[in-house]
Amino acid sequence: MWEKKPVLLMVLATCTILAGTIITMILPFTWVNTKADRIEGVVPYTPIEQEGRDIYIREGCNNCHSQTVRPLVAEVLRYGEYSKSGEFVYDRPFLWGSKRTGPDLARVGGKYPDSWHYKHMDSPRSMVPRTNMPDYKWLRDNPLDAEAIQHKMDVLDFPYNNPQIAALQTKNEMDAIVAYMQKLGNDINWRKATQVEIIGELVNPYAGVDHITMEPWESVYRNNCAACHGEHLEGEIGPELVGDNYEEEELFKIIYNGIPDGGMPSFSALGSDKVWQLTNFIKYYNQGEGESH
Ligand code: HEC
Ligand code: HEC
Repeated sequence: MWEKKPVLLMVLATCTILAGTIITMILPFTWVNTKADRIEGVVPYTPIEQEGRDIYIREGCNNCHSQTVRPLVAEVLRYGEYSKSGEFVYDRPFLWGSKRTGPDLARVGGKYPDSWHYKHMDSPRSMVPRTNMPDYKWLRDNPLDAEAIQHKMDVLDFPYNNPQIAALQTKNEMDAIVAYMQKLGNDINWRKATQVEIIGELVNPYAGVDHITMEPWESVYRNNCAACHGEHLEGEIGPELVGDNYEEEELFKIIYNGIPDGGMPSFSALGSDKVWQLTNFIKYYNQGEGESH
């Protein structure tokens, strides 16, 4: 019936579309950057972090990596706390992206120690044999241009101080990109906040297994831990794991939750069965050594 009254139809259609536009586009603009959207603790990039960010864009890292954790269970389990809009207020331009050839990096800050990043950027394949991420060793050969970076900070109107600029003189592009990686998603202390309080008694389901049963667990160790703790638990980026005297439950908790401020990632995503296998593998590694060699 309205189709026969073109003017009325046009007015109604315009109103409907306008209402939709206001709700989905204009209102969010007024919400963004209001106080309610700000997160305490989220601070602008320092000069070296900002430079690392620009190198990240120049090298097209964003063609393989997204920077936003969606509020979906699977993503939160894999990457950590989902991203909040207030965490991106200093991103110019934003780098959320949608292409994930490599993992999302929104929460990579604090996940690994600096030394892990240097080694991984030098040669990703030395740590993750089948990765297609290119080597970036050559970034070490490019010194930073302190003056240009200072100018950038002025243009962006981000705070900085003279010691920060002076410190750039001795740094290279690799240092900048590592500093940027450590900043990502690390302004809010989500790692500690999301640590799981393990309730009830922890019971080792593999208590008393022999060395033969443990053998296949070595590959779980090799795939997840060897890059930092060495093939033979001798330690490298992380400490040596032989000779520690942790109780089984303590060891389980360290592996399950990680050590948030120490650069030891959480491995809860492996599931508690695998974490128990690793617990036993590490705890009883020495006994096994004696038998097999
Ligand atoms: C061709 C695609 C590709 C490009 C380009 C690329 N990466 Fe990656 N990246 C990957 C893949 C695949 C992985 C997963 C395996 C690994 O750790 O190497 C990865 C892993 C990573 C990780 C470890 C993430 C984690 O949580 O374990 C970091 C950090 C990283 N990349 C940073 C960078 C930076 C910085 C650049 C640009 C200088 C870059 N990547 C460019 C593919 C890429
Ligand atoms: C990205 C590097 C990295 C990876 C991968 C990693 N760790 Fe760690 N791990 C560390 C660092 C760094 C520490 C020291 C943290 C501290 O003491 O503050 C540590 C500490 C530990 C400790 C405590 C050791 C001690 O002497 O106090 C245990 C146990 C441990 N890791 C087991 C594991 C296991 C099992 C895996 C594999 C599932 C693993 N780690 C994977 C870096 C890593």
